[in-house]
Amino acid sequence: MNNKAGILGIGSYLPEKIIDNLYFEKTMDTSDEWIKTRTGISERRIANDNEATSDLATKAALKAIKCAKLKPENIDLVIVATATSDMVFPSTACIVQNNIGATKAAAFDMSAACSGFIYAMTVAKQFVENKVYQNVLVIGAEVLSRVLDYTDRTTSILFGDGAGAVVIGNVEFGGILSTYLGSDGSGKEFLNIPAGGSKLPASQNTIDNKLHTIKMAGNDVYKFAVRIMGDASLKALEMANLKTCNIDYLIPHQANIRIIEASAKRLKLNMDKVYVNLDKCGNMSAASIPVALDEAYRLGKIKKGDNVVLVGFGGGLTWGSSVVNWSIQGGKNE
Ligand code: ACO
Repeated sequence: MNNKAGILGIGSYLPEKIIDNLYFEKTMDTSDEWIKTRTGISERRIANDNEATSDLATKAALKAIKCAKLKPENIDLVIVATATSDMVFPSTACIVQNNIGATKAAAFDMSAACSGFIYAMTVAKQFVENKVYQNVLVIGAEVLSRVLDYTDRTTSILFGDGAGAVVIGNVEFGGILSTYLGSDGSGKEFLNIPAGGSKLPASQNTIDNKLHTIKMAGNDVYKFAVRIMGDASLKALEMANLKTCNIDYLIPHQANIRIIEASAKRLKLNMDKVYVNLDKCGNMSAASIPVALDEAYRLGKIKKGDNVVLVGFGGGLTWGSSVVNWSIQGGKNE
């Protein structure tokens, strides 16, 4: 009998509207060529004015529940990892719980920026393996376009909107073999949205100075990311008693193609074993990993029994990694 928690179902949703690099070329001192060569990004999805994070999350959640062959009332807990919740409170998870009709579920949000999905998945694993809950819905969802300064060429070109979801429950085969989480709050200045919380509430001054938008020391984050993506992946492998040669597929956080390539090199992986969608989606923070995982699964790149490494980093600073032995059939032919 396998006592492990694993992924029972998965789904994702991207808004229809696309903004390509030419848009930025027209509005700022930048170029398609600079953006592509320095980041790997060509375009990103942007939510419509009437779409909030909970709307994207709801669509991804319903797909994941269907994929798991469950009904919303079978969900015991909803966790939404996000840095762009609909409101300060209630949690976006509560809004999703009501939207999908998960009438028996508890709900809360997880705040760990781009690492949020792996943090939330780790919490779900504890609840399932300790037999507190049977089915936990874990969603990574963001509408980052609402917290970008579209006059700042160093941040606005990087991010996009989207949502990905999984249902975590007990699996007969494989499952989440390990998870590893870390944080270093001394890096809080490298990546943040300064205003809108208790430290710097909204005022005319915070609005005039655009302090409700993402501020980032790109170079510092870059150096941290290159180091931590490799370190965290190796740690999750060690915790699962596996080596780099046992990796079948890598789903990295989609921040910059150069960071992803450096991680692949450290893990001795060819790029054909690494899923990349940042060219089309940009960095969707907590949504990046579940959206990439869903796309890779549906394209038939991940098969039952594969060892899939998930790894991410983000504001906090935070990081997280996991080895998942893939337990669901399907993909290309389903
Ligand atoms: N177009 C043209 N030039 C630009 C642009 C742009 N869009 N952005 C910056 N530049 C300029 C800079 O002003 C600088 O000019 P200068 O030399 O005259 O001062 C030059 O390009 C080089 O700037 P760098 O910051 O050194 O460029 P770099 O190669 O480091 O790339 C980037 C910048 C893409 C932001 C990179 O540092 C990066 O990817 N960092 C990591 C970002 C990241 O992963 N964030 C994760 C966020 S996760 C979360 O939790 C939200």
